[in-house]
Amino acid sequence: MDPSHQRPAADPPKALDIQDRVAALVARMSLDDKIGQMALGQPGTASPPETLGDAIRGGRIGAVVNVVERAAINELQRIAVEESPHGIPLLVGRDVIHGFQTILPIPLGQAASWNPELVRAGARVAAEEAARSGINWTFAPMIDISRDPRWGRIAESLGEDVFLTGRLAMAMVEGFQGRSLADAGSIAACAKHFAGYGAAESGRDYATTNIPDNELHNVYLPPFRAAVEGGVASLMTSFSDLDGVPATAHAGLLRDVLRGQWSFDGIVVSDWESIPQLSVHGLTANDREAAIAAANAGVEVEMASATYARHLADAVRSGRVDLETIDAAVARILTLKFELGLFEAPYTQATDNPQAKRETALQVARQAALQSMVLLKNHNDLLPLDSQRMERLAILGPLADAAYEQLGTWIFDGEADRSVSALAGIRARLGSDTEIIHLPVLETSRSREFVDIDAALAAVRAADAAILFLGEESILSGEAHSRANIDLPGAQAKLVQRIRASGKPVVAVILAGRPLTLANIVDQVDAMLYAWHPGSMGGPAIADLLFGIESPSGKLPVTFPRAVGQIPLYYNAKNTGKPPRPDTVTRIDEIPVQAPQTSLGMSAFHLDIDHTPLFAFGHGLSYARFEYSDLRIRPPQIAPGECVRISVELRNAGRRAAEEIAQLYVRDPVASITRPVRELKGFQRVRVAPGQAVRIEFRLHADDLRFYRRPSGWILEPGRFQVWVGGDSNADLAGEFQLIDA
Ligand code: NOJ
Repeated sequence: MDPSHQRPAADPPKALDIQDRVAALVARMSLDDKIGQMALGQPGTASPPETLGDAIRGGRIGAVVNVVERAAINELQRIAVEESPHGIPLLVGRDVIHGFQTILPIPLGQAASWNPELVRAGARVAAEEAARSGINWTFAPMIDISRDPRWGRIAESLGEDVFLTGRLAMAMVEGFQGRSLADAGSIAACAKHFAGYGAAESGRDYATTNIPDNELHNVYLPPFRAAVEGGVASLMTSFSDLDGVPATAHAGLLRDVLRGQWSFDGIVVSDWESIPQLSVHGLTANDREAAIAAANAGVEVEMASATYARHLADAVRSGRVDLETIDAAVARILTLKFELGLFEAPYTQATDNPQAKRETALQVARQAALQSMVLLKNHNDLLPLDSQRMERLAILGPLADAAYEQLGTWIFDGEADRSVSALAGIRARLGSDTEIIHLPVLETSRSREFVDIDAALAAVRAADAAILFLGEESILSGEAHSRANIDLPGAQAKLVQRIRASGKPVVAVILAGRPLTLANIVDQVDAMLYAWHPGSMGGPAIADLLFGIESPSGKLPVTFPRAVGQIPLYYNAKNTGKPPRPDTVTRIDEIPVQAPQTSLGMSAFHLDIDHTPLFAFGHGLSYARFEYSDLRIRPPQIAPGECVRISVELRNAGRRAAEEIAQLYVRDPVASITRPVRELKGFQRVRVAPGQAVRIEFRLHADDLRFYRRPSGWILEPGRFQVWVGGDSNADLAGEFQLIDA
């Protein structure tokens, strides 16, 4: 091996050269060699059992997953380059989801920053760290629209909104892939899970989905289209099925939409064993049929299982799969390997200064944590706490000193010893002038028995304030970790009640991988900061926010329901023929016994709960006070192809400088299919000094008003459009404009 090579190649390979080189290589390969390139193997799962090295040497594997040691990866690359039939280097995949060694907030938390530039920087940090190990392909970003907080993988998503997810998806792709895939520190991204995985019924992971076609195109597909337009190198199919067809065999999605309409020329990889699972779904009778269905639908790479290896060659020989299908798949895989510069520089050697890189990574992680946290409540401006006046603080709860748990789901390579807990962050911020009494009281978030509750109550009575760190551990969200009840687990709500009774100011900081239902504690605390699972630098970020070094600036990327029974609950719902009106709401305890059945004049509400969410999409408080005024819409009328400019004045009427996320919502009130009550169409994060006012302008193109209607496809319908601008999805500064026929 010649480890003196290192990525990048001096110049990114040229597209035309690549095409020629790919064509020449494909022409030399046997059918078995080609099928080998379509296999993604991992240590220990090869079947028949053989080492990865032997499989690579024999040309039976073109990509590996879950090998993370640089030396091991270099050795596998050496075998591929020096000993495999055509010397083709390997794709080396890994789930680098929200950081590699340095962990950023979970993606849902990053989405709460509404800051594409920061999200891009975070993905870059992750890519650089992973690339230093020899990884060249991440299975991220996950861009499944998620409207169900029970679903464990909502943690990994960018929330419920189409526009926000699309913008952040592009930012992540840019961060991972850089300007050129061949640059050092660039890795190929993979948008997943195509498509509809987030709609798993009742939020149970892997469950079936029920997505009408118009909804699929208007809600679930646009983020993938954005990722494709942003140049994403690969897509992963979903485990789930869509109107009866598992995504891994969905030719309508993979061939017609992805390749046909969107001209995607990257690669499509199955999810883990999702090809043999086609038979478990009941679509195919056996592995052979499953391999044929997936290959014909357009899946180029099989992850973990080996149905392609066992059956594709026969399927080609018997005419069930065309040789052209295989050739096209291999050409795409080889093209990616050329674009990554792997033929020129297959080996990885770390050269830059790890310490300096680590510092930068930690700074990005801290900034991301700061901007991801959402201040949900701040009664009487309890926060920020004045550190000068805090002689004694009681820091309680199972997640106060939980450096590992705050990292969140999917952190295989995260360095827990570099994670700074909230307790450590607060201690560092306050120094020795404030006495801190720390008691977890509950051993874990799920514990039902208090430990040292009397000592905790005494500590609170003696303290200036109590800060409770509540929520759920990282293992309670993520893949296959859905919950049917999303209240604070264990005796945490009881703990809040006990502390509340002390009469001291109570701050709750919630660390969680999903929105929790907090209706039972929100009135029991004075302030509530939602920190998600904030990653390595969660502690310092929490301390900065609690003590006012920075103002909170995150906004919810997902609606917080009051109760599970309201789910699905999302801001961009349909109006229905009987939208909920407060004057029609009937309370369950007001209904007399044997009341006659009546529905006249009623509207869409539950008898036992308010129809509104606990916290709306886009909500997030600040230590500043932002006021929106003077909405201007110019011109009042536009034609297709034109833009309307929508601007407002944003004033900081508070006493502190802070960042605000101004949001633009639009409604198409009359259309040929019913349209959402509001849709996010723009946002801007701006810093405003106290007493200062800035004018913010959004440009909305007529094309942004298009929607999908089966069977016509994407259409633009003239008419009146309503507009709102403000700090959350209930923004009430309203106006309108007209879209006229060309
Ligand atoms: C299964 C998950 O669904 C997918 O997102 C992940 O990338 C693969 N496993 C590989 O770990």
